[in-house]
Amino acid sequence: MPLNNNSSQWTVDSGQGTVSSKQKNIREATFPVPKGQAKVTQGFSPGSGEATAHLKPMELKGKNVLITGSATRLGKYIALALAGEGAHIILHYHTSKEKAHHTLKEIKSAGGTGAMFKADLRKVVQIQSLISKVIDDCGQLDVLINSASVFFSTPISSITERDWDTIIGTNLRGAFFCSQYAGVHMTEKGGGKIINISDIGGIVPWKNYAPYCIAKAGIIAMTKAMAKEFAPSITVNAIAPGNILPPDTSSQDEINQLASKTLLKRMGQPKDIAECIKYLLKTDFVTGSIFVIDGGQLLAPLSL
Ligand SMILES: NC(=O)c1ccc[n+]([C@@H]2O[C@H](COP(=O)([O-])OP(=O)(O)OC[C@H]3O[C@@H](n4cnc5c(N)ncnc54)[C@H](OP(=O)(O)O)[C@@H]3O)[C@@H](O)[C@H]2O)c1
Repeated sequence: MPLNNNSSQWTVDSGQGTVSSKQKNIREATFPVPKGQAKVTQGFSPGSGEATAHLKPMELKGKNVLITGSATRLGKYIALALAGEGAHIILHYHTSKEKAHHTLKEIKSAGGTGAMFKADLRKVVQIQSLISKVIDDCGQLDVLINSASVFFSTPISSITERDWDTIIGTNLRGAFFCSQYAGVHMTEKGGGKIINISDIGGIVPWKNYAPYCIAKAGIIAMTKAMAKEFAPSITVNAIAPGNILPPDTSSQDEINQLASKTLLKRMGQPKDIAECIKYLLKTDFVTGSIFVIDGGQLLAPLSL
């Protein structure tokens, strides 16, 4: 990222003198390699042997990053982490205006920049207006992180139409239309990145949370579908966290129980998610992928 800007990518310099424009294109193909100087074996340039790749680190500085549901909790942590990398942070909130103000203040007092916008993501017309306002305000949108969510217990026998609409409307439909509007804009601008926050419940559903898990499974399918349709200019990936930040009402006993369900016997930290997001923003060769960050929780039952 940005996808149309080589400064974000690794450039291969074969060091073999003058080359034809066709060869040059091959030799200047960009692809990710580990940090630092690296030897890149052939496969990209017939007969050229090994070439040295020179790192041109991706610049998050000045990139416009919209994070939905970022006034508080995990979204806020992601916002602060990316602000620390120099990104211009666009906080989105629905009801937490005061918390959004506070988060923006924290970003600015740490030397960062940002803005905040309100929208109810259950309403497509508000999503359209959110993305338009962001583009008017910032000039262009480079990164969208779909993090907004609602999460409450919904045993199948008692789910109402309203519960279903609230959960699917926020967690799936909202993320879909945010991505649609942002993706069309990013395509016109030549590139961008979308990162969706799913949940391991979208892979193996939590009991009593069917609509939430259905929405999060939908986020995984949406990630793959959008990765295909928005390629090659936009990368679309998802993160499926396990237990990172329990509901604010959780007791220490409940938290200990959650931690004991992982292979690593602990809760994840918001930084585990933020680090994955930073990776996804800095690499240019990953799309349609789902990153499970759960301390081995999905595997844990098999280890019994
Ligand atoms: N926390 C975890 O351990 C964990 C684990 C797995 C997956 N995840 C996923 O990670 C993401 C962040 O988790 P979280 O726990 O920080 O989320 P959260 O606190 O449940 O929700 C984040 C924000 O979503 C916003 N939101 C809710 N309904 C909305 C609506 N109708 N329109 C617009 N915004 C709405 C709320 O904004 P306002 O407060 O402004 O109303 C809320 O602050 C979520 O997608 C969640 O499913 C989290």
